Amino acid sequence: MNAAGERVFDLTAQAGTTEFVPGVSTDTWGYNGSYLGPTLVAERGEDVRINVNNDLDEATTVHWHGMSLPAEMDGGPHQMVEPGVQWSPNFTIDQPAATLWYHPHPDGKTEHQVEMGLAGLFLVQDDEEAALNLPRSYGVDDIPVVVQDRRFDAKGQFATDVRGYIGPIGDELLVNGTLAPFLDVTTEVVRLRLVNGSSARVYDFGFSDGRSFDLIGTDGGLLTAAAPMAGIRLSPGERAEVLVRLTPGETVNLQSSPPDLGTSAKAATRNAGDDTLDVMELRAADTLSSIGDTSKKLATIEPLQREDATAERFFTLNGYTINNRLMDMTRIDETIDAGATEVWTVDNAMPLPHNFHVHAVQFQVLRVGTEPPPVELLGWKDTIYLEPGVRYELIMQFPEYTDPDFPYMFHCHMLSHEDAGMMGQFVVV
Ligand code: C2O
Ligand code: CU
Ligand code: CU
Repeated sequence: MNAAGERVFDLTAQAGTTEFVPGVSTDTWGYNGSYLGPTLVAERGEDVRINVNNDLDEATTVHWHGMSLPAEMDGGPHQMVEPGVQWSPNFTIDQPAATLWYHPHPDGKTEHQVEMGLAGLFLVQDDEEAALNLPRSYGVDDIPVVVQDRRFDAKGQFATDVRGYIGPIGDELLVNGTLAPFLDVTTEVVRLRLVNGSSARVYDFGFSDGRSFDLIGTDGGLLTAAAPMAGIRLSPGERAEVLVRLTPGETVNLQSSPPDLGTSAKAATRNAGDDTLDVMELRAADTLSSIGDTSKKLATIEPLQREDATAERFFTLNGYTINNRLMDMTRIDETIDAGATEVWTVDNAMPLPHNFHVHAVQFQVLRVGTEPPPVELLGWKDTIYLEPGVRYELIMQFPEYTDPDFPYMFHCHMLSHEDAGMMGQFVVV
């Protein structure tokens, strides 16, 4: 805490090297280290300030993905941090406990900076979550799982030249920056905070023996109730919190199965949709400590009501455009009333994968095509996979923070698409 009562974090973007393979030094970037960044943790209601320093040779930004905050603090492409300059956004945390994350967002250069290693988690905690019986010892039974695919060239450097329509496709997975990771499990129940930190690849996370797990949270917080399932698809930027039960002495793999991309088989093959990948080995100790029955009833979520919506907007993704426009830093695409509830209908008009992310809000899904949303889309979301030819109706309430000058972004979170211009800007006034 500083004198102003703010919880203060320091993040320095820097270049370094990392030995993913012993003896092989890979050029990487990180915050306060050589790869990824520290997990920031703050409580709902707290005022936070983050001192962002840039020790890189190029300008960057740090965006707080999933956070509701004033546009000037958002860390989008309008908050460039030049080398050697400090940027100190401050804001009040005003949203439920959730697994959020942070990453660079410079116009046209996000993929490169994220691929080099700039990303980290930002966990929000609150009293309701703390009162539940859930694993919450960070690094013991509450485990971050930031999944990124990477490819190494003959010299051990990152290579992004193997690409699908979705962007760079790696053939090895880094989990929290580690190749072939394992977790020594000491508790019967483990909470995994799954984060798709890849630029392009879509995963379908599950376990090697097909065991079911409980989905307890999505991008913006806990579900209303734990939902048993055997697999969950996450596209770039999406998160899920799951609980998995282990028995003493066993080993099981968290893995990714071929995701259903909703495309033709050929398009799936060309966009990394056929791969089965080991993500992380869970090794249970011979005795496991018990947490008892975990809470089944979780958060309270007020459903946003269509009749409260004061505007409906339509977004069609085609080529690298949204509504036939490429990103223009000088153009405001949408102007939204402070506090307004709106329905956004999003449509992927390509036979290829895209997804959709909105800054400053968490949304609820009203409809997927003509159906009500499946259970994994019943909670708070800020990023959603768009199956080709399916209309997604999203409802969201915009923050009260107004700023006619600084916009927030909406975009495809496949980073090469974002960089190519598949992004638009909205102001809240
Ligand atoms: Cu995670 Cu606009 O980004
Ligand atoms: Cu974001
Ligand atoms: Cu896209």
